[in-house]
Amino acid sequence: MDAKPLRFIRRGETVTLHGVPPDRTLLDLLREDLHCTGTKEGCGEGDCGACTVVVAEPAPEGAGRPLTFRAVNSCIRLAHSVDGLALWTVEDLAAPDGALHPAQESLARCHGSQCGFCTPGFVMSLFGMYQNHVRQGEAITPDLARAELSGNLCRCTGYRPILEAACQMDALPAAPAHTIDEAALAEKLRALQASASAPTATTAPAYFAPRTLAELVALRAAHPQAQVVAGCTDVGLWITKQHRQYTQVLDVTRAHELRQCQDRGDHLAIGAAVSLQEAFEALITRRPQLAAFASRFAGLPVRNAGTLGGNVANGSPIGDSMPLLIALGAKVVLASVRGERALALEDFYLGYRKTALAEGEVVARLEVPHPAPGEFLRAYKISKRYDDDISAVCLVVALQAEGATAPAGRIAPGTRLLSARIGAGGVAATPARATQAEAALAGQPWTEAAARSAGAALQAQFSPISDMRASDAYRRQVLANLMQRLWLESQGQGLINLEAAASGRALLGLQEDAWNGSHEGVEGLA
Ligand SMILES: Cc1cc2nc3c(=O)[nH]c(=O)nc-3n(C[C@H](O)[C@H](O)[C@H](O)COP(=O)(O)OP(=O)(O)OC[C@H]3O[C@@H](n4cnc5c(N)ncnc54)[C@H](O)[C@@H]3O)c2cc1C
Ligand code: FES
Ligand code: FES
Repeated sequence: MDAKPLRFIRRGETVTLHGVPPDRTLLDLLREDLHCTGTKEGCGEGDCGACTVVVAEPAPEGAGRPLTFRAVNSCIRLAHSVDGLALWTVEDLAAPDGALHPAQESLARCHGSQCGFCTPGFVMSLFGMYQNHVRQGEAITPDLARAELSGNLCRCTGYRPILEAACQMDALPAAPAHTIDEAALAEKLRALQASASAPTATTAPAYFAPRTLAELVALRAAHPQAQVVAGCTDVGLWITKQHRQYTQVLDVTRAHELRQCQDRGDHLAIGAAVSLQEAFEALITRRPQLAAFASRFAGLPVRNAGTLGGNVANGSPIGDSMPLLIALGAKVVLASVRGERALALEDFYLGYRKTALAEGEVVARLEVPHPAPGEFLRAYKISKRYDDDISAVCLVVALQAEGATAPAGRIAPGTRLLSARIGAGGVAATPARATQAEAALAGQPWTEAAARSAGAALQAQFSPISDMRASDAYRRQVLANLMQRLWLESQGQGLINLEAAASGRALLGLQEDAWNGSHEGVEGLA
C-alpha cells in the first residue's frame, strides 16, 4: 500500500492510519480495524441507516458558519473519503463523565428504541440534525424530522417516539462537553488539509484525491484503470454486494472546481461533485415546485454523500436527476487534459449504461438554464414506497406558455405552447427525451385533448420493460396518466400547491391523513 496515510479528526484528536487499502469501506475500518462496533451493519447498501456516522468539513465562504455537518452511510463510503475531515460515531457523543448527548437522551426519554439495532444510526442522524438545526437556533418540526430521518429504518419501535425525540432534543440541556467549538475545529481541519501532499502518479495501490480539476484530469489520463468515485453511493454497492476490488481509486470530490455551484447569468453551473442535497437546494431556489421531488431522491444520508455528477455519469435508466435535467435543457460539460466539451444531456446517453465519456474524461459540471417567465414545470416520481425508493417511472415536463397571463402555477386553457421539453426515466434503456410528445405539444393550444395526444405520443415512443418494480403495461399506462394529471394540475385541480411543495414534507403529512398511505394516493399528491 502507498505511503500516504489516512488522517482525520475524531474526539478532537488527529487519527493517523497507514496502509488502509483504497477500497476499504469506512464501516469495515471502524468495526474491524478500529474495533468501534457501536456503528452497526444492516443492509450494507445504504438503505437502512444502521451504519450512519457524521462527518464535518470547513464550510465554503459565505455559508454563515464555520463547519458543514453531514450524516452519511459508512457502509458504502470509502474509508479514505474521510481524509482531512472530522468524524463522529455513536461512541463519540456522550461526555467523558457519561452524560448523554441531547440526541441520545431525547431518544431514551421518548422510548425511541426497542431491540436497539437501528438506534446508533438514528442517534447519528439526530446528532446531524442537532448540529445543523438546533445549534443554529432552529426548532425541529415533525416535517423536518420525517424528512431528515427518511434514510433510517426501524423495524420494531415504530416512528412516532423517534420523531418525538427529534422534536424534543432542543429542550434538553447540553453539557459543555457536548458543545463543539466549530471555529477551532474548522481551523484544525484546514491545517490538516493544507499539510497533505498533492497526489502523484504511482503504480502502487493508491487513493488519489486531487484538489483541482487540472490535477484530476492529469491523474485520469495517467491512470485510466483507476476507479473514478464521487459519493460512492453507487460504487459502494459494487464493493459490498458484487465484491469488486479496486487497487486504485480516483476521488473527484476534492477538486475545487467540481464543488462549485455558481449562478452564471442565464444558467446555474453545478459542479459534478456538488452533493445531491446541495444541488437540489440550488435548483429549488428558482423552481420551488421541485422540493417534493427532491425530497424523494433516496434518503438524506445518500443525498448528503451522492453527487449530481455521479448520478449523471452512472447513467442508470431509472436515475432521477436525468429526466429532470433533460426537461430543463441542461448541458453536461466533460473535461480532460484535451480541454472541455459540452453536450446536451440527452446526447450523453448512447445505450444501456453507455455514455459519451471518452477516455480520460470526467464530468466537470452540469449547466442548467434558468426558468423563463411562464415556465410550467412538474416532476413526477412513481415508486412503490414514497421514501427512499427507486423510480418505476419518472416523468418531468416543462411547458413554456405564450403570454403566461394565468395565475402562477396554471396555464389558461387554449393558451398556445411555445415549447415543451419532457424527460423520462424507467421507460427505455437510458434516460430519454420524449421528442414525440414534445412535438405533439409545441405550437399547439394547451387543452385536455392536447395533453391526451401527448400521453399517446409518450406511449408510442417508449417500449418499457417489465421488471420487479413494474410491468411494461403499468409503465405505459402511467405515462399517459401523468399527462392527464399534468393537465389537471395546470388547471388548478391537482392537489399540489407551491406552498406545500416548498416544504416538501408537508405533502407527506397530507398523504397520511388523506390517503392512508395508498400508493396511487401518494402519487396523486407528489
Ligand atoms: C439507498 C440508495 C438510494 C438511492 N436512491 C436513488 C434515487 O432515489 N434516485 C436515483 O437516481 N438514484 C438513487 N440512488 C443511486 C445513487 O445514489 C445515485 O446514482 C448518486 O447520484 C450517485 O452519485 P455518487 O456521487 O455516489 O456516484 P458514485 O457511486 O461515486 O459513482 C457512480 C458512477 O459515476 C462515475 N462518476 C462519478 N463521478 C464522476 C465524474 N465526475 N466524472 C466521471 N464519472 C464519474 C463513477 O465512476 C461511477 O461509475 C440510490 C442509492 C442508494 C444507495
Ligand atoms: S448498513 Fe444499511 S445503510 Fe449502511
Ligand atoms: S429498535 Fe429494533 S429496529 Fe429499531
